[in-house]
Amino acid sequence: MLIHSASQLLTLSGGPQRGKALGTLNIIEDGAVLIRGEKIAAVGKSADLRRAYPDETALDASGCVVLPGFVDPHTHIIWAGDRAAEFEMKMGGMHYLDILAAGGGIISTVRRTRQASLETLLDETRPRLARMFAHGTTTLEAKTGYGLQTESELKLLAALLALDAEGPWEIAPTFLGAHAVAPEYKDNPQAYTDLVCSEMLPAVHEWWQAHHAPSSMVHLPFVDVFCENKAFDLAQSRQILTRARDLGFPLKIHADEFDNLGGASLAVELGAASADHLVKTSQTDIDALGRSDTVAVSLPCTPFGLAESEYTPAKKIIEAGGILALATDCNPGTTWNESMQFVIALACRAMKLTPAQAIAAATINSAHAIRRADRIGSIEPGKQADLLVLDVPDYRHLGYRYGTNLVRQVVKRGRVYSVDGNALPA
Ligand code: NIG
Ligand code: FE
Repeated sequence: MLIHSASQLLTLSGGPQRGKALGTLNIIEDGAVLIRGEKIAAVGKSADLRRAYPDETALDASGCVVLPGFVDPHTHIIWAGDRAAEFEMKMGGMHYLDILAAGGGIISTVRRTRQASLETLLDETRPRLARMFAHGTTTLEAKTGYGLQTESELKLLAALLALDAEGPWEIAPTFLGAHAVAPEYKDNPQAYTDLVCSEMLPAVHEWWQAHHAPSSMVHLPFVDVFCENKAFDLAQSRQILTRARDLGFPLKIHADEFDNLGGASLAVELGAASADHLVKTSQTDIDALGRSDTVAVSLPCTPFGLAESEYTPAKKIIEAGGILALATDCNPGTTWNESMQFVIALACRAMKLTPAQAIAAATINSAHAIRRADRIGSIEPGKQADLLVLDVPDYRHLGYRYGTNLVRQVVKRGRVYSVDGNALPA
């Protein structure tokens, strides 16, 4: 298939973008992409590719922007129920962490999720994935973390693998048994930390080997920790992540969402794939990120969702030479947003990114945050054919416009899915 005549083809070629290089879109005007099977076979000017491949099935992208599918590198997409009532409490003045400490928050979703059957979990999650996909997310990371006991956490991992197999979306799974202290260990967080290390991590490792993970999953799932006051302190986070690393798991961390505990520097020290949230991050942590290959994942929808005014110091991270990425953090508590388009719009305003910087952070750099930048995140020959046709003539409409869906077609592994997210049904 030949997608041709795109007013702008954003290739994002050249690999992850560090520091001030962020925002290098490498645009081909009047661009075309040749797709063979699941992969990109050629990229160039429409005139050249149409001449070289005259008999190819054609998809006319006149007046449209073509870009890589969004990669959402931080979501908590698998849960049961909702927390609409808590949203009202928060808007009434109660703090997120106080709701958590009172047995609500994450723990209330844990109760619902533990009770839910695998079928229920799949049925509740599938529509969210479908909406993400229709808004242009072709690959997402997804965390467990609403089980907080071995069996329930494995159920969530199984659900994520089942949803990945269903497609068309692709899911990079993460084990987040250390999302909160399980209610059974409310008064003894250290005992729960020890349980994660001695029982859960080895169980996940064993389960993964036994379940023959699909070949698209090149490594074990990521292991993540919520490093935060009222969750896991720095020493406990270190204990969990070190144990995980010793078992061979790649690492991630939730750091500095509410307090600066040093989680980002820990992530760098342990060679984590990413450190995420990064709102209260100190200059020392920023410098450490800037010198490292650990991706700084900003989740601007989280402060927005909590009606807080402070965001990731993205400019400082760029200044320090860090690799900045963007994600939704989609979850039932702090931010239920499924659209990377909205993340881009918010990142531009709240963190003063340019549209080009936000787009790179939501594609090639976010692919790097889940260690898949060799396969997705840009439009280059040999890469998987994951791309979007946007119903806009210029890439700057991304960020500029928000609240409606700009996607006209999603191409995933070479297959075209039409989206009708704005129009009335025919
Ligand atoms: O990334 N911070 C921890 N986890 C989520 C919130 C999860 C929830 O509230 O259910 C986050 O914001
Ligand atoms: Fe999160």
